[in-house]
Amino acid sequence: MTGFPTYRPRRLRASAALRAAFAETSVSPGDLIAPLFVKEGLAEPVPISSMPGHFQHSLESLTKEARELVGLGVAGVLLFGVPARKDSEGSEAWASTGISQVALAAVKDEVGDDALVIADLCLCEYTDHGHCGILDGEAVANDPTIAAYGRIAVAQAEAGADLIAPSGMMDGQVGAIRAALDGTGHDELPVLAYAAKYASSFYGPFREAAEGAPSFGDRRAYQQDPANVEEALREVALDLAEGADAVMVKPALGYLDVVRAVKQEFGYPTAAYNVSGEYSMLMAAAERGWIDERQATLETLGSIRRAGADLVITYHARKAAEWLS
Ligand code: PBG
Repeated sequence: MTGFPTYRPRRLRASAALRAAFAETSVSPGDLIAPLFVKEGLAEPVPISSMPGHFQHSLESLTKEARELVGLGVAGVLLFGVPARKDSEGSEAWASTGISQVALAAVKDEVGDDALVIADLCLCEYTDHGHCGILDGEAVANDPTIAAYGRIAVAQAEAGADLIAPSGMMDGQVGAIRAALDGTGHDELPVLAYAAKYASSFYGPFREAAEGAPSFGDRRAYQQDPANVEEALREVALDLAEGADAVMVKPALGYLDVVRAVKQEFGYPTAAYNVSGEYSMLMAAAERGWIDERQATLETLGSIRRAGADLVITYHARKAAEWLS
């Protein structure tokens, strides 16, 4: 390459057609996954105050929203169930009549094979203490928890999930889930592992939405330290060795370096979760007129794609899909 004035980078920026033709990355509805919340026993959807445009859905509003999202071309939906009854073990998470199973079946029935119905697999929405596993004293006991995760995976598979996404950050969770699925005839069902999930302050609004805030302490004894990237690569390597089909980095925006490192190092299908706090932050600034919602959203999603994410899980999915289609 030669220098100025032989090479003038601005030439390729001079028109929309040139910019479009030479764009290195893109965002389309098919790159996006929409997280959705459903709460047992609701007759009407309830707005989530910290996440404008989002609701705790009733079963009816959930299936309608999923149908509309699929109509807009999104790749799929990621379901979170909020049960009416919680206990110390989170047993509603694997009950065949549990809200997540009922909702998975209803959404799958509604959207058919046109899009993915992804089951988030965790216990924090189901336990009365709000931690992501079964407690031993004040600590989450790893091995009993992954046994429970195996049961949940089978229940979600039986309800019709297309993809199981374990988010609890227990050691060995992917292997336990893979073994449980394989042992029950679900050896074709893929796992999208929340492989590098950080103990982030950006999950705050989600915890309102999913009613899964820990009643004491925090999640730093199982989620990753935001200081670390090598640890994320070890987590991803382990999950792949345990049979993960695709991996996820979460959150996305403060962790684009991690997305890039994971994609480059392993070359596996990689998702990034643009989490609740990242959404709420942008929406709050847009509401105040401090930034332009549409431009900021599309730039954000584009940045996550540019970092290397194949799929972006985002609360902006619906509006982005509308703007892009
Ligand atoms: C459950 C789970 C959380 C999120 C996704 N799955 C919360 C947490 O770990 O505390 C956060 C998603 C978001 O903030 O959008 N383990």
